[in-house]
Amino acid sequence: MRAIDIIVAKRDGRELTREEIEFFIRGFTLGEIPDYQAAAWAMAVLLNGMTPRETTDLTLAMAHSGAVLDLSDVVDIAVDKHSSGGVGDKTTLVVLPLVAACGLPVGKMSGRGLGFSGGTLDKMESIPGYRCDLTTDEFKRQLKKVGIVLTGQSLDLAPADGKLYALRDVTGTVQSVPLIASSIMSKKIAGGAHAIVLDVKVGLGAFMQTLDEARTLAGLMVDIGNLAGRKVVALLSDMNQPLGHAVGNALEVREAIDTLHGGGPADFREHCLQVAAHMLVQGRCCPDLESARYAAEATIASGAAFEKFRALVRAQGGDVSYVDDPDRLPRASIIEVIPALRSGWLAEVNARTIGEAAVSLGAGRAKKGDPIDHAVGFVIHKKVGERVEQGEPLLTIHANDRGKQAEIRRMAQSAVEFSESPVRPLPLFYE
Ligand code: URA
Repeated sequence: MRAIDIIVAKRDGRELTREEIEFFIRGFTLGEIPDYQAAAWAMAVLLNGMTPRETTDLTLAMAHSGAVLDLSDVVDIAVDKHSSGGVGDKTTLVVLPLVAACGLPVGKMSGRGLGFSGGTLDKMESIPGYRCDLTTDEFKRQLKKVGIVLTGQSLDLAPADGKLYALRDVTGTVQSVPLIASSIMSKKIAGGAHAIVLDVKVGLGAFMQTLDEARTLAGLMVDIGNLAGRKVVALLSDMNQPLGHAVGNALEVREAIDTLHGGGPADFREHCLQVAAHMLVQGRCCPDLESARYAAEATIASGAAFEKFRALVRAQGGDVSYVDDPDRLPRASIIEVIPALRSGWLAEVNARTIGEAAVSLGAGRAKKGDPIDHAVGFVIHKKVGERVEQGEPLLTIHANDRGKQAEIRRMAQSAVEFSESPVRPLPLFYE
């Protein structure tokens, strides 16, 4: 078998056999198939798609490209969550402490920014010292001892996804249902989750732009998970506008901390409570969603959720003084408030444009391995449906490069649309 033949087959729209997929993934993982061939193959998959059977084979090949964790000796039910990627999506930073504070141990392997969408690891690394490279042994030990883990994919778990994820980020091959489904589910399967809550984002700032596409992705991931013997629930949530107010790594950490303290934006708080409730039910910690939501909310009020976040940061080497005093987190040198240029009801805050502008500010990567600037990003002060008066602060740009400021301002302004008549707020969840 040769990699070139597999690339050509996919380029020409042929369905790949399980053997071909396994050969390609094995070769890529071992470094025998170079990045440029994998990039060409990923582009062929993006353009020509994969059948559900191919996608399942790809997922399992990636899941088994390294070790597959068995967490049965550490927890009764390992519950995990994963978002399909969005803008301002700092949900994990709040949901994990909520769930862990309810007594359900939770360990998660997250990713870095992908295209215009932010990455949980990049956010957590705004906290000096925080380690995202735990070994499997460290992961298990911390899960047992502290009840909460949030790390990167260790080198021995689904390494094929680790490599392909970084390559897709910079080759325009993110937005593909089979590549997203296999990326997410391979990590979840290798990570040893028994039950998984998937947060599938829909809209302008998501990889899935329509409800139909999101449903297809969600259904595929649920089927793959079930085939692998895991319980899976998928939620379809809105990503037309950024979640919460903050977009950008340290800004999002600060917003997550505010939320754990009982503040934070209402939409973000509610989103987190609902995701946490599903995890608590999946993990058989609560009998139904209502009691689970109540339990999660109580951990905010009691301070237990914030304490769990602190414990997480401390366990992974982070400096908790930054959590106790978020003013210490990285700060941008240029902070510019952009006022509303007119009065009206906010009709759109295009999450894609804001995400792309955040990457231009340096919050994400233009090419593999680029350093990121944790301080930069946006705070969007209004949500779709709110009435805004001319001159009121609409958004704040946090930047470090004066040379780019005019272009960033133009991008941010172009993300926003007003209506003369009242606009209905966007729903948090569709299904
Ligand atoms: N999240 C992932 O882990 N992988 C993707 O491809 C998209 C979102």
